[in-house]
Amino acid sequence: MSPHSTIRIIQDEHGALSAVLRSISLLLSECRRRKIPPDFAILRAMLFYIDEFPEKVHHTKESRLLFPLLRERSVEAAEVLDRLDRDHAGSEQAVRVLEHELLGLEMMTEARDADARREHFEASVHRYVAAYLEHIDCEERIVLPLAERVLTPGDWAELDAAFMENRDPLTHREPDDDFRPLFKRILMTMPSPLGLGPAMEAMRTSYPRGA
Ligand SMILES: [Fe+2]
Ligand SMILES: [Fe+2]
Repeated sequence: MSPHSTIRIIQDEHGALSAVLRSISLLLSECRRRKIPPDFAILRAMLFYIDEFPEKVHHTKESRLLFPLLRERSVEAAEVLDRLDRDHAGSEQAVRVLEHELLGLEMMTEARDADARREHFEASVHRYVAAYLEHIDCEERIVLPLAERVLTPGDWAELDAAFMENRDPLTHREPDDDFRPLFKRILMTMPSPLGLGPAMEAMRTSYPRGA
């Protein structure tokens, strides 16, 4: 385990985010396989989570705090960092589009193009999830190891202080009470065997403590 809070917080937030992303895809695939409508309430909650916490807090910390320090210390991953920054800049808009498409599905269930809307939404979600998981994988394979190699003790002190200010409620690192009801709803509404609970336990995060 890394001695740096910054790395541990990023990894925990990636774990929670990956679990939500995978669960969205699995939920849609399972509903299609069972020939039932998607569960709009849980999908809304999950997309809202992605819109609300990782997009506003997690990516912001990476792009504003971690990446600039890495660029100062090394040119090694400059192109990768540029690409990840572009992902950060575009992904909030991308999740907003998905949220709007989901609302369209829910409002237009009787429309002639309802099936086409659903197919389009599902394809968009699967693409979004795959791209997001690849983004996370790239940070874990390239960016975090580079940070461990090139950042100075002073860099880590600065980063650790900034990262400790905002913690992800889903990983239960002193969660923000405002987010708790949403995550309880996500955790409790996912149908078996797709619950986030097993996914989170599999990743050995600390979520059961305060759930
Ligand atoms: Fe990122
Ligand atoms: Fe990240």
